Amino acid sequence: MKLNPKGEIVNAKGWVRSKRGNKNVNFIALNDGSSVKNIQIVVDVAKFDVDLLKKITTGACISVNGALVASQGAGQTVEIQASDILLYGTADPDEYPLQKKGHSLEFLREIAHLRPRTNTFGAVLRIRHAMAFAIHKYFNDRGFYYLHTPIITSSDCEGAGQMFQVTTLDLENLPKNSENKTDYSQDFFGKPTRLTVSGQLEGELGATAIGQIYTFGPTFRAEDSNTPRHLAEFWMIEPEVAFYDINDNMDLAEDFLKYLIQYALDNCVDDLEFMNEKWDNTLLERLHFVLENDFVRLPYTEGIKILEEAVRKGHKFDYPVSWGVDLQSEHERFLVEQHFKRPVILTDYPKEIKAFYMKQNDDGKTVRAMDVLFPRIGEIIGGSERESDYDKLKARIEELQIPMKDMWWYLDTRRFGSAPHSGFGLGFERLLLFVTGMANIRDVIPFPRTPKTAEF
Ligand code: 4AD
Ligand code: MG
Repeated sequence: MKLNPKGEIVNAKGWVRSKRGNKNVNFIALNDGSSVKNIQIVVDVAKFDVDLLKKITTGACISVNGALVASQGAGQTVEIQASDILLYGTADPDEYPLQKKGHSLEFLREIAHLRPRTNTFGAVLRIRHAMAFAIHKYFNDRGFYYLHTPIITSSDCEGAGQMFQVTTLDLENLPKNSENKTDYSQDFFGKPTRLTVSGQLEGELGATAIGQIYTFGPTFRAEDSNTPRHLAEFWMIEPEVAFYDINDNMDLAEDFLKYLIQYALDNCVDDLEFMNEKWDNTLLERLHFVLENDFVRLPYTEGIKILEEAVRKGHKFDYPVSWGVDLQSEHERFLVEQHFKRPVILTDYPKEIKAFYMKQNDDGKTVRAMDVLFPRIGEIIGGSERESDYDKLKARIEELQIPMKDMWWYLDTRRFGSAPHSGFGLGFERLLLFVTGMANIRDVIPFPRTPKTAEF
């Protein structure tokens, strides 16, 4: 934007990032959170009350009226020559933790209630918003319907038993039934309920009725993994599409991810450049790289061969690798960063390490799963073509001893007008790790929930 201010009077409200100057003139860097860039306020000291100026310290909130003029100094094109200043709120310099110098991300996590006032978290939050908006735009523009799936549920979609229980029973004094077990008939819903790990099962009900849907909501996993890629509460986007096979599903995943990255490059330039400069100087290059290259598509079995070959040649992994193991992120990242040097979609995993709903391949050993693996992240998307055959699905449910009473409604989609369909889940914060270049998932969500931490 080319600015050619002619001294019009403007108002700016925001928080003081810094104040410097001398006895004649003060320069206040003011930020209202809309941009990583501050506006410079020039204060002619003689025109203001000394006590007022003294109280304007880093973190204080002020409103300034003044003339917008071309800046004399370097570093900004325009500045405001203050004519009057209203002090909304002071920030005692001895107490306010965000002084001018850079703080560590670990420290900022402890003051997550104030960290949005830093350039870094302002940028992350704006990018997070832009990505959420782009997700809705992408699907809306393509005729998908946003389906609101429940947060409280009685089924375990992923079958991993990592669910948070929801109850109004008094844990100090649980009612017992005749078998001396907890009497859930007295609980709020009359049965055990939990926070959802995925909206997929209900998403499938939507797809087999209104064609193409997506969910976008919070999901919860009580997995005790203290890693830079796991949260106990995260947001997931789950498209589900009738008549899609796994190849259509992979096309959708690749197109969707590329769209989101392009959207960020088109709409978050200042913030991305800031993140590139401050945290990760290969960020922009990596974003462009993903846009410009086709994702590799490869069966799990082939992936394992490559990893075994790497081990034979002397590469050391922390976890052993052989056909049948669930891949660790070190394996995923090896395929992406060292072997192919491109995003990889791994398909056809062993059925034992994947959820019950995936379409069974004819080999009797693998299922039509697809995981999208990204540089620095590992798995960013997990999905599959779904088993649409009633008998096969029921057999798998029985094999895994999933209580049938919980699954009757899901099986009904295969009993009445069953249709081939596919879908996937994108972890929103994993996407944001990739797009912002941040290294820890705790730094791309406003208030992270992880084992032993639920502050704010
Ligand atoms: O691979 P997941 O477990 O797949 C599902 O939940 C399917 N029901 C999705 C579907 O097919 N509709 O999870 C999907 C994605 C992962 O690839 C990862 O990006 C993210 O969700 N994810 C997490 N993100 C942050 N913290 C965690 N603890 C996560 N667990 C999964
Ligand atoms: Mg997965």
